Amino acid sequence: MNILLTGGAGYIGSHAVVALAAAGHTPIVLDDFSNSHPQVLERLRRLLGVPVRCELGSVADVTRTRALMERHQVHAVIHFAAYKAVGESVSAPLKYYDNNIRGLVRLLQAMDAAGCRNIVFSSSATVYGQGGTMPIAEDAPRGHTNPYGHTKLVCEEILGAVQSSSRAWRVAILRYFNPAGAHVSGLIGEDPGEVPNNLMPYVSQVACGKRPYLVVHGDDYPTPDGTGVRDYIHVEDLAAGHVRAVEVLADSVEGFTINLGTGQGHSVLEVLHTYEEACGREIPYRVGPRRPGDVPTCWADVSRARALLEWRATRTLHDMCVDAWRWQSRNPEGLRRPAPVRPEPA
Ligand code: WQD
Repeated sequence: MNILLTGGAGYIGSHAVVALAAAGHTPIVLDDFSNSHPQVLERLRRLLGVPVRCELGSVADVTRTRALMERHQVHAVIHFAAYKAVGESVSAPLKYYDNNIRGLVRLLQAMDAAGCRNIVFSSSATVYGQGGTMPIAEDAPRGHTNPYGHTKLVCEEILGAVQSSSRAWRVAILRYFNPAGAHVSGLIGEDPGEVPNNLMPYVSQVACGKRPYLVVHGDDYPTPDGTGVRDYIHVEDLAAGHVRAVEVLADSVEGFTINLGTGQGHSVLEVLHTYEEACGREIPYRVGPRRPGDVPTCWADVSRARALLEWRATRTLHDMCVDAWRWQSRNPEGLRRPAPVRPEPA
């Protein structure tokens, strides 16, 4: 199938490009490079052995997106293109509501006009808000603790309404837990650019000496070692889950919502010590105050993913740390990030 990946030059999108091509599909990337960079495409060409079809553009440009889908005879869309920094969403909520929600609506309009109505949506465990009992199942109560999480929740509601409007639409919502790691080649990986918000890229930068130490956000949580527990999933496992989701969706009469995690939680200190084993270096840390909005624990019930997608994560936390370190040590400054190229409004 010809699959359009919006935001396909990003962290998870680029890994999905590789997984889709390996499964015999044809990935087409649409990216405005506002939070990624063209050099990823050269890395992808090296991995795939052929150039990746890519168009510079914004999902908000309905006319261009429709034309792109018709030109490439797109069968389905995987929608990655969105801003995802929790802290930034608190300080700049309108940027998030405009980009994440308006962007989805404009994409859906372009899909409808092009007659392509299969969409896989990149959602997040953040829609479970303060979480509940562990493990978290897909029917757990939802909520939000920040504008980023709110945009994911609203997008899921919009997709639910579109799915209900016509049987012609098929919608798969994938709720990621904590993506981590990098492609085993070391050619692509997580490249946050500015100060990393997330644990694994921050630890990676401490390991290579770019940061002096990790601040552990609280060690007084009701967890085995007092630090926060999360369900870290290798980005290559996550990419494989997308391949299965788009294939199953193509043969489904209705959509589905799936957690993509491992079903196992690890604490901050477990991640840190596993990373030390993986890189052979000490990772200095200091304990600081709890981070506002953090929950003590969050890990997935993955039974629906196993049953419906016949998929499960296979890579371990150690694999994630080894692969993250290979990427970080070979690309200490990440890939050059040019100024965002914002396409002219349609
Ligand atoms: C993990 C643990 C922190 C950094 C967020 C988003 C979620 C998704 C993944 C987009 C927590 C601790 C972290 C640090 C620390 N993003 N930590 N020191 O908050 O679970 O999820 O990122 O889809 O939507 O909510 O991930 O990596 O920020 O934190 O101690 O410098 O590491 O307190 O316990 P989180 P995280």
